[in-house]
Amino acid sequence: MKRNSVQFLKEKQKDVMKKILVAYYSESGSTKEIAVEIGKQFTSAQVDVLTVQEVDHLAYDIIVLGSPNRYGKPATELIQFLKKNEAKLTKIPIAFFFSCMDCYRSDQESNLDIDVYCDSNFQDQIRDLNKLSSWEKSHAVSSYLENLTGISKDINIQSIAFFKGRLDFKKLSFFNALVMRLVCLLNKNIKKGDYFKSKDIIDWSYNLILA
Ligand SMILES: Cc1cc2nc3c(=O)[nH]c(=O)nc-3n(C[C@H](O)[C@H](O)[C@H](O)COP(=O)(O)O)c2cc1C
Repeated sequence: MKRNSVQFLKEKQKDVMKKILVAYYSESGSTKEIAVEIGKQFTSAQVDVLTVQEVDHLAYDIIVLGSPNRYGKPATELIQFLKKNEAKLTKIPIAFFFSCMDCYRSDQESNLDIDVYCDSNFQDQIRDLNKLSSWEKSHAVSSYLENLTGISKDINIQSIAFFKGRLDFKKLSFFNALVMRLVCLLNKNIKKGDYFKSKDIIDWSYNLILA
């Protein structure tokens, strides 16, 4: 990005953003790294980057929530946080991000009133949902969003992002590592590795700043 536009963005942040919470849960660390990178972009705001378990109030102008994707849904810790704070989260603009291994776009997204961002690890081709395989359907943006709003139906999500995260068996619990080893055997597209791309995270954060 050019120097002038960075300067412009920083000035815009000063006007529009005051207190921002970036709250996350992470098992193997990638959601945490993404959360920290997002937090760094709001240079002129007061930003708290906390685990969901550390959050003790929600007096913020914007809340960014992040979770690993677990079977199409947020992690249990994030679900508990959403349920506990459901009433407050309907009033504050929320940006939600998933750290995940797979994600597909479909024509169902055109019905959504939410800004969708998929990082450059994922295909950006928008396909007919009915033509996706059952794996692709269950990993489609629209399915992920349906699951999320099924947990907390009035949550005020303005933007949702999907970042390819990390698959590191050594950093997972015994059971989760076993599940993911099986998934890798069944689906050759899912491979262990670290897919963090800070440029994509910065891109999404700037979209939030400009919104
Ligand atoms: C039990 C389990 C289920 C998962 N289910 C999905 C899934 O449905 N879709 C997906 O894209 N990734 C899935 N993943 C991959 C994680 O979302 C991914 O590895 C994430 O980057 C991990 O984040 P963390 O490092 O913050 O824990 C799953 C991982 C585990 C351990």
